[in-house]
Amino acid sequence: MKTTASGFRQAKGGRKLTMLTAYDYTVAHLMDQCGIDALLVGDSLGMVMLGYPDTLAVTVEDMIHHCAAVARGASSPLIVCDMPFMSSQRGVDDTLRNAGRLVKEGRAQAVKLEGGADFAPEIRALVRASIPVMGHLGLTPQSVNALGGYKVQGKSLAAAQKLLDDARAVQDAGAFALVLECVPAALAARVTKELEIPTIGIGAGPDCDGQVLVWQDMLGMFDRVAPKFVRRFGAVGDAMRAAFTGYAAAVRDGSFPAAEHCYSMEDEQQVLEKLY
Ligand code: KIV
Repeated sequence: MKTTASGFRQAKGGRKLTMLTAYDYTVAHLMDQCGIDALLVGDSLGMVMLGYPDTLAVTVEDMIHHCAAVARGASSPLIVCDMPFMSSQRGVDDTLRNAGRLVKEGRAQAVKLEGGADFAPEIRALVRASIPVMGHLGLTPQSVNALGGYKVQGKSLAAAQKLLDDARAVQDAGAFALVLECVPAALAARVTKELEIPTIGIGAGPDCDGQVLVWQDMLGMFDRVAPKFVRRFGAVGDAMRAAFTGYAAAVRDGSFPAAEHCYSMEDEQQVLEKLY
């Protein structure tokens, strides 16, 4: 059954919501068969797909390219596309134009936008334009330079109060869900209790309404960073290394391709003899 933004919102208080990142057709298609509620085309693609040191260089064009591939691969999950750095920071008109492109060209069904009360006008304008918005608070990777690194957020009273106020502002502006990244579990639980919209945690403890992970992290494929909040649900990186090594060895020792991998032709000998 198709998950919509309003269905996602209504699930609060019922079942736990599941979201995973996805960046391409094949993986989206696999996830489509596994009952994942939402696929996030995250700007984390800058790091795990494009090899940048952070998410800051990712463009709207990058997001459209990957989101369209994901949308072609998955029909049941809600497709949420990140607004990359500087696509929502230049005012309402620019934000609307960029989000419109993610929906029209990338076939996104919702956008995710980092930021709190300061971004309420942008969220309101997107919702008015019928573009569902997922908020994102706590560790917002697009602000890595302002935050001074990838650190847990909301640890002091003042920071916790600001996060709660921002969460209320994002909800009041019309967001249908809110990602909480790297915040203390107790604070995430409090925000979750206060809000009517679902919270989706990543490094925010078990009391959020749902969880999200970067798929390369949960399958042990990306070893450049190893956040504490990641659980490995598979050793796919190890399996891939073994397969690539096995392929190279089989080509080199002549065992691949074998007879069963080859095409034959009729009258093979005759044809070959007639070739000049
Ligand atoms: O870009 C991303 O993958 C994200 C998730 C980590 C929430 O924003």
